[in-house]
Amino acid sequence: MSRISRTFVVTLLCCVLACCAVKDVVTGYDRERVVCPLKSRVWGPGLEANFNVPARFFFIQAVDFENNSFTYSPGPNAFQVSVRPTSGRGRVWTQVLDRNDGSFIVRFRLYESYPGMRIEVKSGDRHVQGSPFLISDPVYDEKCYCPEQIQSQWQADMRCRSEMHPQIEEDLSIFPAIDLDRLATETVNRFARHHSLCHYSIINNRIYRKTHGEHVGFKMFSDAFLLSMARKVQLPDVEFFINLGDWPLEKRGADHSPLPILSWCGSDESRDIVLPTYDITESTLETLGRVTLDMLSVQANTGPKWVNKTNKAFWRGRDSRRERLNLVKLSREQPELIDAALTNFFFFRNEEAEYGPKVKHISFFDFFKYKFQINIDGTVAAYRLPYLLSGDSTVLKHDSVFYEHFYKQLEPWVHYIPFKKDLSDLVDKIKWAQTHDEEAKTIAQNAQQFAREHLMSNNIFCYYFQLLQEYAKRQTGPPVVREGMELVEQPQDGTPCQCSRLSPAHEEL
Ligand SMILES: *[C@@H]1O[C@H](CO)[C@@H](O)[C@H](O)[C@H]1NC(C)=O
Ligand SMILES: *[C@@H]1O[C@H](CO)[C@@H](O)[C@H](O)[C@H]1NC(C)=O
Repeated sequence: MSRISRTFVVTLLCCVLACCAVKDVVTGYDRERVVCPLKSRVWGPGLEANFNVPARFFFIQAVDFENNSFTYSPGPNAFQVSVRPTSGRGRVWTQVLDRNDGSFIVRFRLYESYPGMRIEVKSGDRHVQGSPFLISDPVYDEKCYCPEQIQSQWQADMRCRSEMHPQIEEDLSIFPAIDLDRLATETVNRFARHHSLCHYSIINNRIYRKTHGEHVGFKMFSDAFLLSMARKVQLPDVEFFINLGDWPLEKRGADHSPLPILSWCGSDESRDIVLPTYDITESTLETLGRVTLDMLSVQANTGPKWVNKTNKAFWRGRDSRRERLNLVKLSREQPELIDAALTNFFFFRNEEAEYGPKVKHISFFDFFKYKFQINIDGTVAAYRLPYLLSGDSTVLKHDSVFYEHFYKQLEPWVHYIPFKKDLSDLVDKIKWAQTHDEEAKTIAQNAQQFAREHLMSNNIFCYYFQLLQEYAKRQTGPPVVREGMELVEQPQDGTPCQCSRLSPAHEEL
């Protein structure tokens, strides 16, 4: 009762203020717009206990007294957010990111698990609509071993799509039956001598692994991700190889008994099953941790508004492909269209005199001072594409045989402007973009929308999980711990946590 009447009074206040907030009675001019706490909106998966990603997140939309959403920033301090355990003390690393379009991302990372949490969002000294948000279920931190036993429940909690991902469907279509004994023997015979691979068996949610080859440092990404998944959900029993190198491996055609090998990059010329790249895999795990460029931070660092961006195409990167040198040449011929330069010489060191000198690195976020972003292959696909799509510039994408796990969902002229592999039409495409401002801007917005819906941390977890699940269904026998495999231990550096999902017998894990 008292809550209702208080709400009513504050609402009334909002409406009264609305009359005088917009027009100044003396000058008649619009006054500065003010955020109305009761009309501003808070939503997003980070308000739920079981949306367990390393950096949890939700959103705030600033709304004024006339119930109009802000489309520009109401100021960096428009909202004050507090995220803490319901009882007791706790350290929660919280950040509010201004997306500069009237909305904010709130993200937070836990260092321990709590039986419940309280999230407050205020503007001035008033609670925003719905605040405080109380989470009364246990909230587990990233390091807590507490796998959800019901896989479909976890998928629902993580907001995974129920339909099969088109890339997974396509990749697995040529592997209706996976014979694990043959896989184990032939993969080692054919690839282990000249390539670096990890052979994994996951049995009863424990991860066993054997590496093959010399350069196996990148196992840190696959180990870390598999362990993180196993802490969150009971994984299917499954045995597979991950290729740790850049290039996909399996060149055999579908009717020549190809091997199902998981790779971080796919290509039209190989049969490898594509995983999210190690880059986005790591940034998913290390958001608010080791990395500064991730799918959330990039949303708050998209540079000036469209009208104030430089009307040119931009590119920086290293010399990992001939076309990149050609791009630098084009940029010198047409500096009013393209600003492209190399930041490092390695593959074409002897051509540094012609294509150099190398320029200093600039922050990725500064790329978005330009309206158009060139995404050109390196050794394989350029793994920056998820971040470029998230910005509010238009991406020009190189035609390529290489692809990441989400490329099949992108449409040319909807999410990006395509250009030819030999760059022969790049100048024309940039000129088109410069003279079709509205269309180019729409493409940028579509791309941003796509990235927000398909490339967030939960989407990456969902993809890996669905892939393992679908792959597991195709195994013709049970996975086994092969000779030479070692147990990949869960990290011991987390604070002890009490998992209500496991029976005491499980907890010894
Ligand atoms: C304010 O706008 C939202 C959606 O934009 C709408 O759902 C809500 O009912 C509106 N509130 C008022 C008081 O008009
Ligand atoms: C563009 O830049 C000018 C000059 O800095 C600034 O006054 C204006 O507000 C900017 N426009 C937008 C939409 O941000």
